[in-house]
Amino acid sequence: MATPDLRGNPCGSASTAARDAAERALWRMMSFYDTPLADLDAAVAADAGWPLPHVMRAGFLLSLTEPALLAEAEAELALARALQGQGTARERAHLEAVEAVYQGRWQVACRIWDELLVDHPRDALALQWAQLWDFYRGDAAGLRQRPARALPEWDEADPLHPYVLALYAFGLEECNLYPQAEETGRRALAANARVPWAVHAVAHVMEMQGRFEDGANWLRQHQEAWAEGNGFACHLWWHKALFRLEAMDLAGVQRLLDVHLSGQNLQLSLQRVDAASLLWRLHLLGEDVAAQATALLKDWPLEGVGAGHYAFNDLHAVLAMIAAGQAPRAEAWLARCAERALAPADARRSNHLMAREVGLPLMRGMLALARGDADTAVDLMAPVRAQAQRFGGSHAQRDLIDLSLLAAAAQGGRRSYGRALLNERGMAKRVTPLTRHWIERMSSPMTARA
Ligand SMILES: [Fe+2]
Repeated sequence: MATPDLRGNPCGSASTAARDAAERALWRMMSFYDTPLADLDAAVAADAGWPLPHVMRAGFLLSLTEPALLAEAEAELALARALQGQGTARERAHLEAVEAVYQGRWQVACRIWDELLVDHPRDALALQWAQLWDFYRGDAAGLRQRPARALPEWDEADPLHPYVLALYAFGLEECNLYPQAEETGRRALAANARVPWAVHAVAHVMEMQGRFEDGANWLRQHQEAWAEGNGFACHLWWHKALFRLEAMDLAGVQRLLDVHLSGQNLQLSLQRVDAASLLWRLHLLGEDVAAQATALLKDWPLEGVGAGHYAFNDLHAVLAMIAAGQAPRAEAWLARCAERALAPADARRSNHLMAREVGLPLMRGMLALARGDADTAVDLMAPVRAQAQRFGGSHAQRDLIDLSLLAAAAQGGRRSYGRALLNERGMAKRVTPLTRHWIERMSSPMTARA
């Protein structure tokens, strides 16, 4: 007999201890305070017959986009499958969705969560995970629409309500609805100051509007909520570095890299992607980051099953390799990614299309830029720009495509294209010192290398 959980969702466990532990795990996944694994262990210990904690564990592991964690996630899914008769229909839908994620069919997973949310709009796990995989597949409309469909069904006194507001704030931001996004993020934080995803959503608004001083102040003001004991700290330090970069404070970027985005701070591919993204941006500005990129690659477990798992991460690995002066390794990596992405066996994975339409042409363009073939780099990357959201990430993360195009246009003969991009940039947000740098480069005499 299903018992309702805290927000009325049918739940397959009657154990209060198990349900409380699963609720703490859910909060950890939405807040990023520590990992949910110990709480999920406690939920299993309290009710060994309940499948949901196993599904949550598998989903959490898969959310890290680490190929090395696939086997552990698969084992958890097998445990959940064996117990599924003791779960509710809602919990079986979660199992089906996470199985789709495991198979790489991220769009299918989001569709299952969408259907689940129609009947259970207060299922925070579905809202959280669907947002994450919307993000990984660049579905900006989904990021905004899904929490919007659910929010009016929520009690504002629910401790997770501010976290759902934060999901909505980020969705608004990715749909370029900046004033609404900022207002919603601030509302979430007024209810609970410890919602790093809301801090993040507002930081994105400031990034997209060129408000780099506001952004640095904003992150400093909320630092207590995100900088210690939080799995999101690395990404927010990355945002702080972006604000420094907009100011052309390159020494400030280097300091943040050294202190927060290197060495033991980098435990996951998602964190290494952020470090690679920053190093690449510095590389485009002519900074020598070869030693840092080499150190980054040394601890990045890329070999084995890594190539072709997720195009967004794969591109960042290529950028680190180029910045490290390892172009032949980057060419070999690209070949392995292409081999997997184009294989019929992978045709049902979301990454198949992402790699073919976005990841691979971008890698080829970046490698052309590395060879000094700037015009080819523009030719390869410019057509991808309009559909680049399909391989996921945020507008701020994908801005490195525009920055790479600007560098290629400044180096080669496509100055008119570069000026057009700068016009667009200047109309979209305040002209920052970084943008002014590229305006000057675009009108300076041509040089062989950035
Ligand atoms: Fe971000």
